[in-house]
Amino acid sequence: MTTTASPAPATAQPEAGAPEWWRDAVVYQVYPRSFADADGDGMGDLPGVTSRLPYLRELGVDALWLSPFYTSPQHDAGYDVADYTDVDPRFGSRSDADELIARAHEQGLKVIVDIVPNHSSSEHELFQAALAAGPGSPERDMYIFRDGRGEHGELPPNNWTSIFHGAAWTRITEADGTPGQWYLHIFDTTQPDWNWENPAVHALFRDVLRFWLDRGADGFRVDVAHGMVKPEGLPDATVNAHGLIDIPEGEVPIYFDNDGVLDIYREWRPILDAYEGDRMMVLEAWIPEHRLPLYIGREEAHQSFNFGFLQARWGVETMRAAIEKPLELADAVDAPTTWVLSNHDVIRHATRYGFAPDYAFGEGLGRDEHPEAELGLQRARAASLLMLSLPGAAYLYQGEELGLPEVADIPDELREDPAHHRGGVPGRDGCRVPIPWQQDAPAYGFSPSGESWLPQPEAFGPLAVDAQDGVPGSTLEMYRRALYLRRELGLGRHDAAVEFLDGLPEGVLGVRRGKVVVLVNTTEQSLPLPTAGGLADAEVLIASGAQEAGAIAPDATLWLRTA
Ligand code: GLC
Repeated sequence: MTTTASPAPATAQPEAGAPEWWRDAVVYQVYPRSFADADGDGMGDLPGVTSRLPYLRELGVDALWLSPFYTSPQHDAGYDVADYTDVDPRFGSRSDADELIARAHEQGLKVIVDIVPNHSSSEHELFQAALAAGPGSPERDMYIFRDGRGEHGELPPNNWTSIFHGAAWTRITEADGTPGQWYLHIFDTTQPDWNWENPAVHALFRDVLRFWLDRGADGFRVDVAHGMVKPEGLPDATVNAHGLIDIPEGEVPIYFDNDGVLDIYREWRPILDAYEGDRMMVLEAWIPEHRLPLYIGREEAHQSFNFGFLQARWGVETMRAAIEKPLELADAVDAPTTWVLSNHDVIRHATRYGFAPDYAFGEGLGRDEHPEAELGLQRARAASLLMLSLPGAAYLYQGEELGLPEVADIPDELREDPAHHRGGVPGRDGCRVPIPWQQDAPAYGFSPSGESWLPQPEAFGPLAVDAQDGVPGSTLEMYRRALYLRRELGLGRHDAAVEFLDGLPEGVLGVRRGKVVVLVNTTEQSLPLPTAGGLADAEVLIASGAQEAGAIAPDATLWLRTA
């Protein structure tokens, strides 16, 4: 695979304080436990991230989003927070967080931190206090406790099941040793849901927001942003013939996407607006597309992940629809849309695209599932180049710029995802394997000791940063050049509309953005480059596949500059 020669290094960074920087930002997701390990314990940490900031700057991103690094027993990789305002010793200290934010800002990088408001860890002191205090106490009212059904309260209060499999309720033993009330946990047993009907919960999170805003955070990624408010009375969900909660295609479980959550964003927005420097929030809301605009606006959140693009199958019609629809919806609320192809919860896109477009994915990648690795990477590169040509914010997940695949062969006893332990599915560890920095170093340079909390496969060696750095056509150089061009050409901005081109050969998706034309060949054959519309003399700016004169390589994207 080759691309055109690399341009001058991408040194242009957004001006500090550029207005509404988040509208067209490229945000890089750092998953701290797997990014860079400074102290050699095999788990990444904040000083490790700080040491790699020059890499992110050189890549050409505008911001980093840090997955949770707060005090946590790590039953869900840190999405089980025991103290929202402190740093887990595995990841460092508060002063390491301050240092990271300060160094990032010096380099022109914004910092987004994760906030997890749907649930805490069961080790949070307020949950421990709720257990110790009796039923009906104010302590218990911070969470969602209910008496059980059945003669002796031995049945859960309703039939809800957890996203991580099994019941969404756990029964406690009261302080006097008797079987007691039940508490709700939409995720793991160790992740009790907060009671957002209680004003004290609102107050607590307003303080958490201010704590990180005061420390310089430029924004928040809101975890399970559609989950906090439950339907009144906690009614049973309808179940299907298998006794499972019935979730019709395109809908969400009964406990998600209730209108009350919008009020939380209306409460938070003025808090962010009161700080200087355009602080923002991006929502992780897996909800039906048509509901997204409700969450976004001048009084609600700034933006939300658009998961439709991530879920779109490889093909002209599917990808076109996954671009057109969110743009239309975003326009209606005068907000930028966002684009994302990978994150720490989904199978990496270099692997997803290695399956037939209609392949039915499970939760994680099983050992007996065999993607076509080369095809997957080719299509992933093409999809990424398409994504980076679109207006709005783009979110990258660490390692996608190296073309990392999902790792399937992790021994079960090393897997940490609670969904694996509760549901017997492979789970999400396969996209969380530590990053290879150096081909020939222990743990591929992830940690100085050679330790790594998950084993890295041999396939990571040739994909290491130092193996791709400066190599024309490598995935890393393709991303660097694409990010550079995206900024130079203003492709993230909204003023150049997205125009879909008609009359192209079958299997080619074409998008015009001002003078730039983006062509995606979704077929497995080389196709002649169309010549109509000024394309005959167009200059190739970048290509995700082999460059062939007068042709588009199979499963590849080209950016062309027309006169
Ligand atoms: C979000 C996170 C995921 C986590 C879950 C529960 O979906 O991205 O990693 O397991 O919330 O917090």
